[in-house]
Amino acid sequence: MGQAYRVQMQGIQKAFAGIKALRGVDFFLLPGEIHALVGENGAGKSTLMKVLSGAYAMDAGEVRIDGKPALLGTPRRGKELGVGIVYQEFELADDLTIAENILIDRLGRHGIVHWKALFAKAQAVIHGLGFDIDVRSLVRDISVAYKQVVEIAKALSADAKILILDEPTAVLTPTETHKLFETMRALKAQGVSIVYISHRMEEIFSVCDRVTIMRDGEVTGSGPLASFTPDSVVELMIGRKLSTMYPPRNARPGAELLRVEGLSGRAFSDIGFTLHKGEVLGIFGLVGSGRTEIVRAIFGADARKGGKVWLSGRETHIRSPHQGMRQGLALIPENRKEQGLVLDQSISRNMSLCNIRRVSQPRGILRRRKERALAEELIARLSVKAGNPINPVKTLSGGNQQKVVIAKWLAASFQVLIMDEPTRGVDVGAKVEIYQIMNQLAAQGVGILMISSELNEIIGMCDAVMVVDKGRKMGALSKEELSEKSIMKLVVGGKQ
Ligand SMILES: Nc1ncnc2c1ncn2[C@@H]1O[C@H](COP(=O)(O)OP(=O)(O)OP(=O)(O)O)[C@@H](O)[C@H]1O
Ligand SMILES: [Mg+2]
Repeated sequence: MGQAYRVQMQGIQKAFAGIKALRGVDFFLLPGEIHALVGENGAGKSTLMKVLSGAYAMDAGEVRIDGKPALLGTPRRGKELGVGIVYQEFELADDLTIAENILIDRLGRHGIVHWKALFAKAQAVIHGLGFDIDVRSLVRDISVAYKQVVEIAKALSADAKILILDEPTAVLTPTETHKLFETMRALKAQGVSIVYISHRMEEIFSVCDRVTIMRDGEVTGSGPLASFTPDSVVELMIGRKLSTMYPPRNARPGAELLRVEGLSGRAFSDIGFTLHKGEVLGIFGLVGSGRTEIVRAIFGADARKGGKVWLSGRETHIRSPHQGMRQGLALIPENRKEQGLVLDQSISRNMSLCNIRRVSQPRGILRRRKERALAEELIARLSVKAGNPINPVKTLSGGNQQKVVIAKWLAASFQVLIMDEPTRGVDVGAKVEIYQIMNQLAAQGVGILMISSELNEIIGMCDAVMVVDKGRKMGALSKEELSEKSIMKLVVGGKQ
């Protein structure tokens, strides 16, 4: 019976310093299927897959691959057994070429590198995935989306028969996502079994065959997707029904707060818009459209080349993030790993980093008790799943790290809040919590600029939207005009 399964994981347990990440998990994977693995932030998805790849040793349980007990425990062993994994956070070597990254494990096994053969082999893998990227480029020079493709090529080049993708589309544009789905379907037709982790329900229902749902280290449901609905999956994930995804906002936009005219800088030019008190203004654009550069220039993180910025009617000349913060701006950055967090520092220290005054005495002495109290307040406010606030941030799950980035900024005081992809990698329950906080802030008169590439979120949350592409403003839409179609029309066509 069990023979039919590609992977059987039974009774898997794993704990980290007291936190039970997996409490006896059963997981079954068929040959040639795409299997969705879903659950709240911190549910144990990545941990379970790291056990399967050999990156983590389990505390108890059994793993069988093609019916035979698999003695995992090291990533090398996982690879030998045909398990390829693309981790949630990138693991590429920036200074090497794409080809070297793809074949890194097989380089120099006999002390000689056959460059020509190496490049040809790597190029074949990339072409096989349907992408046209020169494998001689350095990884540091390619876009995030391409890095994702390289990660997948790397996992596949070892002839994986089990491919694990841990939130691969978080940084992809819709077009690239479609390409990835085509690739996944082609691999499935060749008999590869794919585990697909994502927080995006539409993606799961469009590309996956079966689903396993986790909550707090346990499986709460598993079966063919046809026997579930998006609502029933969410309910099993969060343990309750989710009534509204986008909570209504009573606040109406008020007086002018932030006005930008003719702003130019690295990767964008001639950008103009007005943000009002209590308004949520969306900036819709794809990865690489210049959207992040625009808000960084406004905040003072990047230099501007031209243009004017007014705050409450007064022209400002913000030249550094420090000045931006003093003028009442706050920016929740897109990239938590590089800009948002100090990974080796504790959760509470990270949360107090931009609130130093709140947690220190007048002469700048840090008050540990206050720091801890602040951390506990923020952890509760955003339901961060953290064992102890003194643990390093890197021990948190991916989505919970993102919550820490958001939490630390929410404790600061500001008039304009800039959020760059605030809900990327965050589970549905926490998304609603973030939306509720946005509404509360708007009701207090804060103006919010929200960058997002998720159309649903833009349509559900914004009072108005500016669409950007290739560093240019393609047009603006009012709340009444907002629809998937009207936004995408601006992306491809543009109107002024
Ligand atoms: N290396 C580690 N050290 C300590 N705790 C860890 C470690 N890795 C994971 N954990 C804990 O194990 C639990 C499960 O984490 P995991 O990363 O598997 O969650 P996840 O389901 O992948 O969540 P997300 O959707 O946020 O990525 C979390 O409570 C997390 O804090
Ligand atoms: Mg994870």
